Amino acid sequence: MMVRPATPADLSAIEAIESAVFDGDRLSRRSLRYFLASDTAMMLVLAVQDHVLGYSLIAFRRGSKRARLYSIALTPDEHGRGLGRFLLRSSENAAKAHGAAFMRLEVRNDNAGAIALYEKNGYRFFGRIEDYYEDGAAALRFEKALPHAD
Ligand SMILES: CC(C)(COP(=O)(O)OP(=O)(O)OC[C@H]1O[C@@H](n2cnc3c(N)ncnc32)[C@H](O)[C@@H]1OP(=O)(O)O)[C@@H](O)C(=O)NCCC(=O)NCCS
Repeated sequence: MMVRPATPADLSAIEAIESAVFDGDRLSRRSLRYFLASDTAMMLVLAVQDHVLGYSLIAFRRGSKRARLYSIALTPDEHGRGLGRFLLRSSENAAKAHGAAFMRLEVRNDNAGAIALYEKNGYRFFGRIEDYYEDGAAALRFEKALPHAD
């Protein structure tokens, strides 16, 4: 089991995870390809040998110490086994290595599982954005100061 940078060969697996876990606001293959090639984004996959079980996408802004966890998802069979926490930690470490001091994210207000994951891993709620998602759901905003040492 390892977390490594995504490659173009991972796109189909990532796309399959997107459609399996999200009903709307999915990242299209085109967007995934864009982020993969972007030098202000980092896409990671959690994989066992060649089998991709999950991915995360982190976005950076030039001149900002704040990274944004744009997406994190695991294939449904693997939920609830601690892999989300592992991928989140790995994503934080990758963001830190890229120079970030804070991680921010938005999550649907009805996504209890993801909210629990973030709260248990040191994220602090700091705001709400109404009507953020395609279906009108609100987003909750969370932030964490990335620790200096692992
Ligand atoms: C959100 C997601 C990445 C979490 O990964 P996971 O592997 O299922 O979570 P973990 O097993 O690592 O759990 C980490 C912690 O969060 C908690 N948690 C995770 N899912 C939970 C749920 N559905 N309800 C309550 N708590 C939950 C766990 O209890 C665990 O805490 P613990 O170790 O103290 O028990 C995964 O469920 C997923 O891919 N969901 C679909 C995509 C998604 O919603 N992504 C987030 C978009 S913002």
